[in-house]
Amino acid sequence: MTQTLTAKVRDLLASERSRSEKLQAICQLLADAVPHYDWVGFYLVEEGTEESLVLGPYVGEPTEHTRIAFGQGICGQAAATESLFLIQDVTKEENYLSCSPEVKAEIVVPIFRGEALVGELDIDSHTRAAFSAADRELLEEIAILVGGIL
Ligand code: SME
Repeated sequence: MTQTLTAKVRDLLASERSRSEKLQAICQLLADAVPHYDWVGFYLVEEGTEESLVLGPYVGEPTEHTRIAFGQGICGQAAATESLFLIQDVTKEENYLSCSPEVKAEIVVPIFRGEALVGELDIDSHTRAAFSAADRELLEEIAILVGGIL
């Protein structure tokens, strides 16, 4: 599955679409392909400030968290530390921004352009402990590919 999905992401990235259309299509691809991916979206580092994230293309329920300061919530912590966060039970997190009470697990994968953090791939699941090592590998691979267009 991983190989098929990354191959599809490569094709999407190479296609004649705008950047946001490509990101939107990747969200749709992942949400359609993986049943435990209930919300799939990109947050982008705001140009100029480098202190906040703004919501980019996503698939899933609308969220009130359209702008997140570095350090705030799981996304903001991942940005501040430039590291991947895999939370198998969000109810145990103190620094967490809830989008929906249905969300049980979340993975946030940083995206770099060269050395610079430029965004994140954020996925929520309604299933507790939903994310495996295979998810992590898949999403890290996709984050590297997406870094090529951000
Ligand atoms: N739960 C995230 C906020 C973004 S939503 O999941 C879409 C967080 O704690 O940063």
